[in-house]
Amino acid sequence: MISDATKLRFAKEVAKYPTDQKQSAVMACLAIVQQEQGYVSAESEQDVAEYLGMAPIAVHEVTTFYNMYNQRPVGKYKLNVCTNLPCQLRNGQKALHHLESKLGIHMGQTTADGMFTLQQSECLGACADAPVLLVNDRSMCSFMTDEKLDQLVDGLRGAQEPT
Ligand code: FES
Repeated sequence: MISDATKLRFAKEVAKYPTDQKQSAVMACLAIVQQEQGYVSAESEQDVAEYLGMAPIAVHEVTTFYNMYNQRPVGKYKLNVCTNLPCQLRNGQKALHHLESKLGIHMGQTTADGMFTLQQSECLGACADAPVLLVNDRSMCSFMTDEKLDQLVDGLRGAQEPT
């Protein structure tokens, strides 16, 4: 169920497009849902589809196409490591394995304390900087050696500890 406050936010996005093209706001609406709920559930997809007058499967196709949409709850920090071929050739897979070992989880899982979710991603558009990863769909980290990966994880963990 979409709240009135959320519908207001949806309406602002829809208003950016011609009245007969409100489906163009689907990505923005899904981003709002994720911002408010942490992920996009199947029920939320239905709500967005209904609001925009779209087929639910068309909304689901958007949710599943883009890495940035979480289809289930994720940890406080989502780490998306690029494992596409150019990055594979420059230790992308090795970086993913290092993080699996460091965090004690496998790709696609979340740590027991809810701090980290580890995922692989498609090309992040920074192939020359490999290995690369994206933190919470916002912060790009480049040239991620094992040492830098350790610093990143330890730094994010440390930021949570009370001083
Ligand atoms: Fe990894 Fe392009 S293949 S950033």
